[in-house]
Amino acid sequence: MKQVLLDRYGTPWDVARCAEVPDVGDPDPDEVVFDVLAFPINPADMGFCKGTYRLKPPLPATPGAECVGRVVAVGAGVKHVKTGDLVINLQRENWTQRRRVKGDDAIPLPAGIDLRQAAMVRINPPTAQLMLSDFVDLKAGDWVIQNVANSAVGRLLIVLAGQRGLRTVNVVRRADLAGELQGLGADIVVVDGDDLASRVAKATGGDAIRLGVEAIGGAATGRIVDCVATDATVVHYGSMSGEDPRIGRSNFIYRGVRVTGFMLGRFLAKRSPEQIRAIYAGLAGQVLAGKLSAPVDTVYPIDKIKEALAHADKGGRNGKILVSPNSAI
Ligand SMILES: NC(=O)c1ccc[n+]([C@@H]2O[C@H](COP(=O)([O-])OP(=O)(O)OC[C@H]3O[C@@H](n4cnc5c(N)ncnc54)[C@H](OP(=O)(O)O)[C@@H]3O)[C@@H](O)[C@H]2O)c1
Repeated sequence: MKQVLLDRYGTPWDVARCAEVPDVGDPDPDEVVFDVLAFPINPADMGFCKGTYRLKPPLPATPGAECVGRVVAVGAGVKHVKTGDLVINLQRENWTQRRRVKGDDAIPLPAGIDLRQAAMVRINPPTAQLMLSDFVDLKAGDWVIQNVANSAVGRLLIVLAGQRGLRTVNVVRRADLAGELQGLGADIVVVDGDDLASRVAKATGGDAIRLGVEAIGGAATGRIVDCVATDATVVHYGSMSGEDPRIGRSNFIYRGVRVTGFMLGRFLAKRSPEQIRAIYAGLAGQVLAGKLSAPVDTVYPIDKIKEALAHADKGGRNGKILVSPNSAI
């Protein structure tokens, strides 16, 4: 079977290759084997290939934080999934044609779910949902501000916020995205820049913004912090610039703004397996109903992983780069 291997860490499309490896074999009683139908290339996967992600396993290593698969064999002790079910996998190393994992790590998805969207259910939808629920007790009408608003997380956050009656200020770096994001329910779309706080205050009529979420780092974090109200919370959850956040100190001293961070694994770990399955059941149901989605730019076969990675690194994409290891999509 085919699998993506890194023999060293570095520029993703230089270090990743599609290799022929032995099959995973039959499942043990507590295991599940599934064919990987599709996986996205996420920013964290790019960091993994570069060796800059928090996890840097011994080489050779296989990337892949998420995927959708179809179960082909189930151990005798596994009761919650059966052969033929679609699943997402809570474990990594998914850039391959077939996986063998513990049954508890295989989360069933509803039959009939769009496979492209299913490949992206594991990480970004719960990230958007939990950032809206786990930091500030927001009520309908409250404002949330976010940057990278046209990212997959950003688009999902716009929709999930709208479902709760929350209003969103969406910061992007391309003005032509405004109509698209407004179509999802974005209340305000603004282009990032030096005078962001004054433009946002003008657009909201000076209303308090109690939650900010940001994934760029560097001075961009500081610009989001400048936009939120006294005693508000800003959640740093990614670093598209590769820089550490830079925040003016008066935000802490004079205004008591709290800046904290989010990592999905940390916030799922606070929950029971049943609660985690319930989160995914809710989100997958919304995907199945067509209420939640993320755009896809291009789908590549697994042996074109180098091309797929180079494309994923380009800014200005119209959605995710997906890979289809078994030609299922
Ligand atoms: N902490 C967690 O648990 C967690 C979970 C999921 C995602 N994340 C993070 O969330 C962020 C978004 O992920 P995603 O999968 O939704 O991303 P995505 O769909 O691939 O979109 C990437 C976004 O980043 C923007 N961008 C790229 N380079 C940039 C730069 N140098 N400066 C400013 N903006 C830049 C892009 O803008 P253009 O479209 O204009 O190029 C686009 O809006 C990433 O940082 C990811 O690591 C974190």
